[in-house]
Amino acid sequence: MREAYARGANAMEVAREYLGSAENTALATEISYDLQAGQYLKASYEDPGSHQAWITQLGGVLDPFLMPGASILEVGCGDGTTLSGVLDILPDSDRATFAVDLSWSRCHVAKRHLESLGRRVSVAAGDMFRLPFPDDSIDVVFTSHAIEPNGGRDDEALAELLRVTHRYVVLFEPLYEMADAAAQDRMRFHGYVRRLLSAAKAVDADLVEAKLLDFSPNPQNPSGLIVLARGRRSVGNPADGGVSRPGFACPLTFTPLAEAPGCLYSASAGIAYPMMVDVPVLRPEYAVVATALCEQSTGRG
Ligand SMILES: C[S@@+](CC[C@H](N)C(=O)[O-])C[C@H]1O[C@@H](n2cnc3c(N)ncnc32)[C@H](O)[C@@H]1O
Repeated sequence: MREAYARGANAMEVAREYLGSAENTALATEISYDLQAGQYLKASYEDPGSHQAWITQLGGVLDPFLMPGASILEVGCGDGTTLSGVLDILPDSDRATFAVDLSWSRCHVAKRHLESLGRRVSVAAGDMFRLPFPDDSIDVVFTSHAIEPNGGRDDEALAELLRVTHRYVVLFEPLYEMADAAAQDRMRFHGYVRRLLSAAKAVDADLVEAKLLDFSPNPQNPSGLIVLARGRRSVGNPADGGVSRPGFACPLTFTPLAEAPGCLYSASAGIAYPMMVDVPVLRPEYAVVATALCEQSTGRG
């Protein structure tokens, strides 16, 4: 697979063929994006004009929703290039910032990239269909072309993003229902999501905005915007009813995780998740039942 990708083949097609699947399964998505770790970072250096136009546009959209102190999460952060750009445009030293991606390698690249810029971001490998956060815990949750490859799972993705969101979900994704015929053909060919707008209209949240964006990094894959608001809750300052101390949680029980040697650990659930180098793997399939860790840390047993 690596050789085929290195020869210039499309990563998702290589992964689908290798797995013998006609669809973008979770494993095909993970492999295809993992193979691309570091490529978006390289592209952002090679084409700074396009990168700047993208993040300036996103910063402008997110600005009114990101009150001072509001926590933010990017789901499907890739190499962290979009998130780092957004943080440059909307700096706030008090902001709790999180990023997750299915691919560990991309999280690893993102973590190092963000650290090299002095950004304090908690990065973890995680699945958008089972996010490692408690309900209602992050003020603003956004995606940038990350729901895109998960064809057929539009409703599921929105439900999970809304579960963890306190106030706003902002999606920068291709919108099949607003796209022209050529873009729709391409989206069908690549197995992209095709009913995000219908899904957004069906959820229990206010649809604030839905439109195509002016600038798309790839004009063949036009980017759209969907903004969903959850009720009239405040954001940012906990004293005003905002979220206090958001943090990672076990994706099975949603109980809080704390650092323990070599892992993140939920003492109440007795479940640990491995820390690989500098990035925890907070996916349900990597949960380890480890009750002795609790006994060790409390001196019992
Ligand atoms: C097109 S890239 C965009 C990366 C980044 N958001 C950006 O703007 O540069 C899509 C990213 O979404 C991630 N992704 C796709 N499905 C995911 C899932 N189910 N859970 C978490 N991340 C996912 C991929 O691993 C990949 O890094």
